[in-house]
Amino acid sequence: MVKLVERFIEDFPAEDNWRDIQRDTGILGNSEKTRELVETIEQVAPTDISVLISGESGTGKELVAKAIHLRSRRRDAPLITVNSGAIPEGILESELFGHEKGSFTGASGLRKGYFELANHGSIFLDEIGELPLAIQVKLLRVLEEREFMRVGGAALQAVDVRFIAATNRRLEDEVRKGNFRQDLYYRLNAVRIHVPSLRDRREDVVPLAKKFAADFVRDNHIEFEGFSERAFNLLQAYNWPGNIRELRNFVEKVIVLERGRLIEETIVRKYLPTFEEMDKSLPVRVEKPKEEMERELLLRVLLEIKSEIAQLREFMLAGSAKRYSLGAWRENGPDQFYGQQTEDGKQAVPDSVSDMEREMIRVALLKTKGNKRKAAGMLGLSERTLYRKINKYGLRDEDSN
Ligand SMILES: Nc1ncnc2c1ncn2[C@@H]1O[C@H](COP(=O)(O)OP(=O)(O)OP(=O)(O)O)[C@@H](O)[C@H]1O
Ligand SMILES: [Mg+2]
Repeated sequence: MVKLVERFIEDFPAEDNWRDIQRDTGILGNSEKTRELVETIEQVAPTDISVLISGESGTGKELVAKAIHLRSRRRDAPLITVNSGAIPEGILESELFGHEKGSFTGASGLRKGYFELANHGSIFLDEIGELPLAIQVKLLRVLEEREFMRVGGAALQAVDVRFIAATNRRLEDEVRKGNFRQDLYYRLNAVRIHVPSLRDRREDVVPLAKKFAADFVRDNHIEFEGFSERAFNLLQAYNWPGNIRELRNFVEKVIVLERGRLIEETIVRKYLPTFEEMDKSLPVRVEKPKEEMERELLLRVLLEIKSEIAQLREFMLAGSAKRYSLGAWRENGPDQFYGQQTEDGKQAVPDSVSDMEREMIRVALLKTKGNKRKAAGMLGLSERTLYRKINKYGLRDEDSN
């Protein structure tokens, strides 16, 4: 036990070590999440285990792939990056596995593929979700057997490579949809490294902005006054849908276009999309007052339900004349939304805007235990309007219990 603890302390990157790693890999940031990320890289890099890197666009997946290679015993051999989505399907196989002379029109000589070029090094399959199924089968073979055949070749070629793949799609979903082979997914997913979005590690925003600015100013000999404190606050509050890439572009753009000026809040606002626009990707915005957040959440839940209902309706219409009962489904579903029945005993399914509104009001009353003032606040209505609507829809007090 004592030994284990000692080893843990020993393994934990000391401050100097941390700085070395950052310099080596270029992965900057001091947030807990970034530290965890780098720690994971340090753990897996020395092994030959396959790694699947996931994360939104611009979070640094390629940087992570490079770091894994750099911190491995393969660092002196090549790291070959394959941009799976950018290579035309027709030549993908020969690009990956090479081809032999005369294997197809125009194949004038033997050509090595990426796998041969990566021998003893690593291969980085970027955007792996884009690979056609036919290639996925061949890839699985290389992963399992460490051998492949050139296009037009007859002999198997042995290869020693480490697999690193990245995706910004949810590969699990692609497997479910039949676009990605499950066996390949399991093979690649031996270790999963998820690179967090910048909005999930906001403490990194300011240090990264400072570093990007310093590098850019130094490399381009540009005058620069820096950012004001309020400008930094705004940058930290922004959601960065394009993540670190967007931050870097932003910094470089303002330095060039606002040459020599102190970058203040107004300038930041000028170059970033409005807060309304940028928050579409988030279910709920953190800075909003509680009531507003609840209202947004409610609306979203209702919209989701509405789309489920539309699907259900389609399903029912597509079926035979047999009457489907929603009962069983309702038992598992959010009952409170569907508790209503129409006079003829059928399930009431909100399908118009006013039905939606009625449901929103009913749920708000339910949530606030019938407190009209709170419910009005949650819905963004005046209390008077709420009373009017309660009457209009004939909502009774027991509707809120
Ligand atoms: N932690 C970090 N520290 C410093 N720079 C970073 C960091 N993460 C990413 N970057 C920089 O941000 C930019 C985008 O990174 P990268 O290309 O690795 O993202 P990605 O996840 O591969 O994006 P995409 O999915 O769009 O291909 C690069 O310029 C990279 O150097
Ligand atoms: Mg990338």
